[in-house]
Amino acid sequence: MIEFKDVSLAYEDNIVLDKVSFMVQFHEKVAILGVSGEGKTTILRLILGLVRPDSGRIYIDGQDITELSETQLREPRMKFSIVFQEGALFDSMNVRENVAFCLREYTDLSEDEIDTRVKGLLSRLGIENAVYHMPEELSGGMQRRVAIARSLAGCEPGMMLYDEPTTGLDPLTADNICGLIRELSQGGPGARTGFIIVTHKVTDAMKVAERFMYLKNGVIAFDGDALALKTTEDPELKRFISDLFAAEKSI
Ligand SMILES: Nc1ncnc2c1ncn2[C@@H]1O[C@H](COP(=O)(O)OP(=O)(O)OP(=O)(O)O)[C@@H](O)[C@H]1O
Ligand SMILES: [Mg+2]
Repeated sequence: MIEFKDVSLAYEDNIVLDKVSFMVQFHEKVAILGVSGEGKTTILRLILGLVRPDSGRIYIDGQDITELSETQLREPRMKFSIVFQEGALFDSMNVRENVAFCLREYTDLSEDEIDTRVKGLLSRLGIENAVYHMPEELSGGMQRRVAIARSLAGCEPGMMLYDEPTTGLDPLTADNICGLIRELSQGGPGARTGFIIVTHKVTDAMKVAERFMYLKNGVIAFDGDALALKTTEDPELKRFISDLFAAEKSI
């Protein structure tokens, strides 16, 4: 479980989070919504201990990670796999090397084992033909798939973190990535892997998530299910949703 307790963070006079509290179970399917700059990526960075809050506490599975050292953070970080905003592949490495990177860094697998694991992942994501391609030779949707394969390579995570996985993709490719996210979260009975998807695309969030949080002015202004989101009376949130529905329809 992830727990934020009165977490505040500011960059100089820019207050990004203001006493944010929430709890998310590892099996939940959560979308964190909000316009650009509201602090969505920052929340993911805080979960991984990549940035520290100015005040408040962050607990991962009951462990207070707020002041852990880099070495101590290794273990709680292993519970997550993150797909960074924009995919962030290594330009100078081919697809195989990109996906193998974490395996080489963090495991003692042999080259043969790495090869098998990489091929298995690529075929699971439907990109086995791209194994020796360079990132620049791939479409945006394929790059996103490689990024997901790479984040899955290291371990079977307790939870996936997706930062804007569909942003910048055409609606069809975005839909495809949403399908993939849903598929990856379906383990056996009682064994599904949850995720947090951070996005400003409400329609994509609706396709994958079951719980929605709306970040506005440093606080979670809404936290509820799809029905509650669609029927919200909050004028601000209503505008956010309708603007996006309208914008996405016109593409
Ligand atoms: N290292 C940093 N130094 C200074 N300001 C920062 C830093 N990182 C983030 N910020 C600021 O914190 C705020 C939140 O950033 P964050 O990246 O979390 O937003 P976001 O909701 O993910 O936005 P987007 O939808 O554009 O990705 C922004 O105003 C940003 O400018
Ligand atoms: Mg962001």
